[in-house]
Amino acid sequence: MYIDTHAHLNYPEKYGDLPQLLAKIAAAGVDTVINVGWDPASSALAAEQAERLAAAPALYFAAGFHPSNLQDYQTGDEERLASLLQSPKGVAVGEIGLDYHYEDTDEAAQKRAFCAQLELAEALSLPVIIHSRDAAADTLRILKDNRAKLRAGGVMHCFSGSPETAKEYLKLGLYISFAGPVTFKNARRLDEVAKIVPPERILAETDSPYLAPEPFRGTLNTPKNVVQVYEKLAQLRGEELFALAARIKQNAKTLFYKIR
Ligand code: NI
Repeated sequence: MYIDTHAHLNYPEKYGDLPQLLAKIAAAGVDTVINVGWDPASSALAAEQAERLAAAPALYFAAGFHPSNLQDYQTGDEERLASLLQSPKGVAVGEIGLDYHYEDTDEAAQKRAFCAQLELAEALSLPVIIHSRDAAADTLRILKDNRAKLRAGGVMHCFSGSPETAKEYLKLGLYISFAGPVTFKNARRLDEVAKIVPPERILAETDSPYLAPEPFRGTLNTPKNVVQVYEKLAQLRGEELFALAARIKQNAKTLFYKIR
């Protein structure tokens, strides 16, 4: 019934025996998970897991360089991502974007990698999964400047900005995805965003292993907790839970068109 559009199950130190965890995820009603890479190794593992563990939930993957994981990035590395994404399970380029949270941030390098991967997405006709932290102005500017490369669309993952910023991304045709933080108390600004995103542009995710939703905040997050995100979104939007779940599944299949 539910889809988790963004999780990192490709994290053996956190998740150990994946088949056991997957059984729990499926039992919670989560039938589809997009397993997202942050560098070539994690992307390759996500691809391998999607091939090997193709039961319930159905696993798909995204491949990309996260802006905080560019230490090994070299021009030409996009080809490694491209070959992974030939797989029928490879649904997006991601996660990519900008993250200025840490003091030693190399903003120029992040922008270069972001733009190169937008180009890759265009070449592969795949959507992008965008991470943006403490970098809304530059993220927005780069996306506006590269609008032509967004032909296959994209999503602002784990959105945490203002309603005004959300509206700018919506104007670019992007989806807005909500994760655990929308369930946190005092998330008033995010509550407002959850109310204004049009039904055809909303997505939900966990960003596991990070950011477990209430009432599990502070514990190891897993895709089964995406149910709490759906429940909070349904409550905020005054929608029926199952109708919202069906709508989000449809949105995910529209954006990530390789999902069956
Ligand atoms: Ni992530």
